[in-house]
Amino acid sequence: MTIRTRQRLIERIRKRVLIRLALGLVGVVIAMAVGAVMFIFWGVYNVSALQQHTEPVYTVLTTALDRSISQRAEEIDVPSLDDPAMAQQGLIYYRDKCVQCHGAPGVARQDVGKGMTPVPPNLAHTASNRTPAEIFWAIKHGIKMTGMPSWQFIFTDEEIWEIVAFMRQMSKLSPVEYQAIAARVDSKETAQTEEAEASSARSGTAPEVLPNADRGRLAMYGYACIACHRIPGLVGPQADVGPPLAGIGARRYIAGVLTNNEDNMVRWLRHPTQVDPLTAMPDLEVTERDARDMAAYLETLK
Ligand code: HEC
Ligand code: HEC
Repeated sequence: MTIRTRQRLIERIRKRVLIRLALGLVGVVIAMAVGAVMFIFWGVYNVSALQQHTEPVYTVLTTALDRSISQRAEEIDVPSLDDPAMAQQGLIYYRDKCVQCHGAPGVARQDVGKGMTPVPPNLAHTASNRTPAEIFWAIKHGIKMTGMPSWQFIFTDEEIWEIVAFMRQMSKLSPVEYQAIAARVDSKETAQTEEAEASSARSGTAPEVLPNADRGRLAMYGYACIACHRIPGLVGPQADVGPPLAGIGARRYIAGVLTNNEDNMVRWLRHPTQVDPLTAMPDLEVTERDARDMAAYLETLK
């Protein structure tokens, strides 16, 4: 055998090995993809709220959650949180909106907060583990696939900071002290009505903010409109409890009763049952600003 034929032989063997390796790799990738598809379609993963994830899945998910929140919280400027009046106001918001899931000093979670996976954490513990910016972000934006709602269409940023201020004091409050403040102070609704009356007495009308269609799109997730409507540009259950809103910007009437213009759309979104007492669309406590933003988005759907 000459040197040249030997070299050719080696070259041929090397090529064959490489081709086999490549084929093997493709085979593994295909097998994994088929496995993943079957895993999903055979419903292998148990989604029961009482079957906790396995330890490795739990670790992956909590790490992803921690990293996601801390990345996004980096940009947030934290105001001073030391004013005791702030924490006291925050306690009232907490009592009204959070205690049912998270509990409070001496107060158990209600039914909704018991059988959840992940379990709504004790927020005194959270306050010592997370920075104020991270807590603010989690409250404002909520956390997908956990049951933690976004509160940005319910509370202003200032109100969320008040809740953060309260959470930082929570571990120092005894059950008796918590109850004493919780029983003493009025709800957000009373406080807001008084504030709104005071401010309209001061300035006549609310300050104008230009309608923002992007914010309106987000607001339609925030008010759960997609639970009843198909809305182009929003992902959801595609339920037809209410009419699909594709083309709503070009329609002449709203719900068959109001001429379609911006003011009437705002009126409909804020108080549908005042426009039509028999309508199946409920009043969702939509604010003027949120309704204007949603109307701006709906206007683009021609
Ligand atoms: C419907 C139940 C529910 C309500 C109501 C609720 N939460 Fe949550 N919350 C959760 C769940 C579930 C989690 C996610 C737990 C996890 O994955 O770590 C969570 C997570 C959080 C976190 C992040 C905690 C952490 O350490 O990761 C904060 C902060 C928080 N909630 C604050 C609040 C505040 C403040 C309110 C009231 C304005 C509130 N939550 C109302 C269920 C709820
Ligand atoms: C509980 C279900 C439900 C929710 C939640 C809901 N809607 Fe509706 N919506 C309806 C129903 C039902 C109608 C039809 C009302 C009628 O014709 O009397 C309707 C009608 C409408 C109309 C008029 C449609 C047309 O064809 O004229 C608009 C616009 C609308 N909804 C927008 C919204 C927005 C925006 C939200 C969120 C803020 C929302 N809806 C939340 C059930 C709902």
